Amino acid sequence: MVSRRSFFAVALLSSRLRAAGDPLQKAMESVRASMPTAAADPERPVYHFHPPANWSNDPNGTIFYRGWHHLFYQFNPYGSSWGHMHWGHARSRDLVNWEHLPIALAPSVEKGETAVFSGGAILALDGRPRIFYTSIGERAPEQWMATPADEDLIVWTKSRQNPILTTAVHGALKVDDWRDPFLFTESGATYMVCGGNTSGRRWGGSGQVQLYRATNDELTHWTHLGPVFECRDREIVNIECPDLFKLDGKWVLIISPHKPCEYFLGSLDLARPRFTPEARGILDAGMDYASNISRDQSGRTILWMWGRTGNPAAKGWNSVMALPRILSLGSDGFLRQQPAPELEKLRGAIVTAAAVPLTSTPSVLQGIRGDCMELEIELTLGRAAWVRLNLRCSESGKAGAAITITNEGLLTVGKATTLLGQNDRYRLRVFLDKRVFEVYANGGLAALYSTTDAGRDDLGITVSVGGEGAEVVAVKGWPLKPAEFDASRFHV
Ligand code: FRU
Repeated sequence: MVSRRSFFAVALLSSRLRAAGDPLQKAMESVRASMPTAAADPERPVYHFHPPANWSNDPNGTIFYRGWHHLFYQFNPYGSSWGHMHWGHARSRDLVNWEHLPIALAPSVEKGETAVFSGGAILALDGRPRIFYTSIGERAPEQWMATPADEDLIVWTKSRQNPILTTAVHGALKVDDWRDPFLFTESGATYMVCGGNTSGRRWGGSGQVQLYRATNDELTHWTHLGPVFECRDREIVNIECPDLFKLDGKWVLIISPHKPCEYFLGSLDLARPRFTPEARGILDAGMDYASNISRDQSGRTILWMWGRTGNPAAKGWNSVMALPRILSLGSDGFLRQQPAPELEKLRGAIVTAAAVPLTSTPSVLQGIRGDCMELEIELTLGRAAWVRLNLRCSESGKAGAAITITNEGLLTVGKATTLLGQNDRYRLRVFLDKRVFEVYANGGLAALYSTTDAGRDDLGITVSVGGEGAEVVAVKGWPLKPAEFDASRFHV
């Protein structure tokens, strides 16, 4: 159902788009041309969010508004590798099924803008969202703002007051790679953080997160409060996509440091300003990156991440979003990540696997196979050194994507390893979706996103064990249905 205000805004957009050479129209035509190629690829994931076609990366401006989860994302309408950054847009009622909406933001070439980079959304005092993003051109990066013309957030108007922030806001402090605004409100004030570094990426240990406060209700004037966080880590040269938000009474800072995202839990002093970490963890040691956060109507905090797929550009698509994850704090003071429970609606009939011999030679699970499914596995290691599960194995015994737990408490998924800790019992939830899969271990203490290059007919699952005494207590599986991706409104 389209609201009245949306109807007029979309009519306005349509008439604007019909004008020959409109950049949004051109961009959407280019995407449409790739849609048949993308749809024909049997290895394209079917329930991980993906755009109609072509390249996507970071989730942007994630916001729950008037009953819809809105997801914007870095989007290259002109090909299946990174470039020409626009903001794609989709919305979902249930975090599972999606409606693709027209591209939200294109570079304003006439204003010297060549790309619209990542950013965030916030509800302004008038109760309507604003987008802030990093504007790229032949000049230093700037932070720009856009306002929706309609309640469905389809048509966005860039503020006449852009640039809202330039590097001049930092005074004498020189911040390089300054980008990726993320917004939050606290005690009635609106704040923004941006990533960057203070060494031109020349050496490690200079990654910083800058904090700003809006000084007017229209969010067009801001003051720089200072670096709220300095990453004194020699291995980190820069910080992208910082998220700073409250969760269960703690402040959480997530950073994307050009390697797996890290999180810090701690306290925030907005006056100094200073975020003081008390605990630190790897958010996901796998291949996802560039997080964003939204808060839904029931107060859940949802984590969004870009899932790299690394597939050839000729496929007409590249990348997905990792499954939306619900964040919480565990009683041990570390983060927990769980896939949104709404995903259960994709489940078909449950299947359980019969017991198989547990030896170092992989045993094929009987009754459970496929390339699109959810698995729940409970196991104990006993005296065994490791237990391994291989997804997408071939008939001839070629091993597919590996998930291994060792008696040192390490969890290895594909090429990534994370410390789960030694446990009497390990519980895994695995989501397999064609060439991507995700593993959630021990109630979301670890979450890993990964990919596989398995052959099309490689659908078997095997279990193997190094040593004696391991027990696979239970294996349950559900075939998963494809989610709906309705592109009918991608045509304006
Ligand atoms: C992270 C990132 C951001 C930037 C965007 C450009 O993946 O590099 O820092 O805004 O991608 O697409």
